[in-house]
Amino acid sequence: MRICVVGAGYVGLTTATALADFGHEVQCVDIDQAKIESLRQGKVPFYEQGLQELMNINHQNGRLHFSIQVEENIRDSPIVLIAVDTPPKEDGSSNLSNIHSVVETIASNIKGYKLIITKSTVPPGTNALLYQMLLDKGVEEDLFDIVSNPEFLREGTALWDIKHPNKIVFGTRSERPIKILKKLYQKGKASYIFTSLTGAELIKYASNTFLATKISFANEMARICDAFEVNYIDVAKGLGTDPRINRHFLNAGLGFGGSCLPKDLCALKDAAMRQNVETKLLDAVMAINDTQIDIYLKKLRTVLPNLEGKQITVWGLTFKPHTDDLRTSPAIALIKQLIRKGCYVHTYDPMVQQELANVSNFNDQYESVKNSDALIIATEWEQFHECDWSEVKSRMKASIILDARNCIDEKIVRNEGFIYLGVGKP
Ligand code: UGA
Repeated sequence: MRICVVGAGYVGLTTATALADFGHEVQCVDIDQAKIESLRQGKVPFYEQGLQELMNINHQNGRLHFSIQVEENIRDSPIVLIAVDTPPKEDGSSNLSNIHSVVETIASNIKGYKLIITKSTVPPGTNALLYQMLLDKGVEEDLFDIVSNPEFLREGTALWDIKHPNKIVFGTRSERPIKILKKLYQKGKASYIFTSLTGAELIKYASNTFLATKISFANEMARICDAFEVNYIDVAKGLGTDPRINRHFLNAGLGFGGSCLPKDLCALKDAAMRQNVETKLLDAVMAINDTQIDIYLKKLRTVLPNLEGKQITVWGLTFKPHTDDLRTSPAIALIKQLIRKGCYVHTYDPMVQQELANVSNFNDQYESVKNSDALIIATEWEQFHECDWSEVKSRMKASIILDARNCIDEKIVRNEGFIYLGVGKP
């Protein structure tokens, strides 16, 4: 099938590549000329495992094309998949101007039947409004179908996720597009979930906010475990063995970040508020997340009561491992707090060389700890688990480790003579 994917950002590019790999002919369009040029030269502007290689294979075999000719490609493709960004506004609601402009372009370029698929995460009710927008612009009802098809990819494992989905959600107004939709993805063991336009939008928000809820629950439990001097890991294990609960997303730590969970939580709260629905649970999930950094600074002060003038090294800058994404990263929030407290901060990340204001960034993890009073592990890269702790200790001034992701072996570092502070650990 011929598909035009609008938006060559994280979701658009990954989806376009996967669709081409499934055998479709894909035109991936974006208004950013520099980005399209670099994609044509085979360069992915962010890190995602395996994407660069798969993109190049499909670009070279002629199934995946990149273009800035948005209008022409929308006009010539019977299927248009919208994957433009919907960034948060100051009040937490989503900025839908990019999606509106794509729909306007579609409205003025419909000749024959077009299937419009919304992949971007949009607040409940948006696809119904886009449908009405097309009708208001004089597009005949018979000429198009609009489908809400949220994505559930995780950064770091996006290609695996798209090839092995656990569900494929389609929100439709009628049964007309179902036959085409079933040919779009490799289904594997996934089940199709057909629902209304708004139902599909809410499945996406419910998924991300439920994951956020699990994490905040874990973080609150870890606080309680700390108070009772109980190891949270044991509690998480006990919880996770119950199949009704499961162990996923119960890792306590600095809290959730990234471009999706915090944004979707705010957007759902905003959408609910507009319908006069109180969101006490979502409010609490956010409040817990917003105070996680304070909890770990408090923990650090139990061994370093005065942080002013201390040199602290932070390992891990990205919002989670296996990505170069710094958006809403708890590690960055932590660093900003340390600077506000008067600390000198050193940083090291296996993937990102990021210069931050008032921070010394190192490209060697051992160099980064030189003369430090404490080391904080903010992101759980495997490399930190496997490092040479006697080398680290010999370079540090004081031997304090705050493992804010419970990702290193505390016995090994304690044997090495470190003071070890973990998450929900006595
Ligand atoms: C999330 C969802 O997991 C995807 O299903 C969804 O498609 C995506 O958002 C999206 O809406 O595009 P992602 O943002 O890539 O994916 O990251 P997650 O793996 O969900 O991690 C989010 C944050 O939660 C990270 O900061 C991570 O460190 C934190 N986390 C995760 C915890 O603190 N504890 C855990 O147990 C798990």
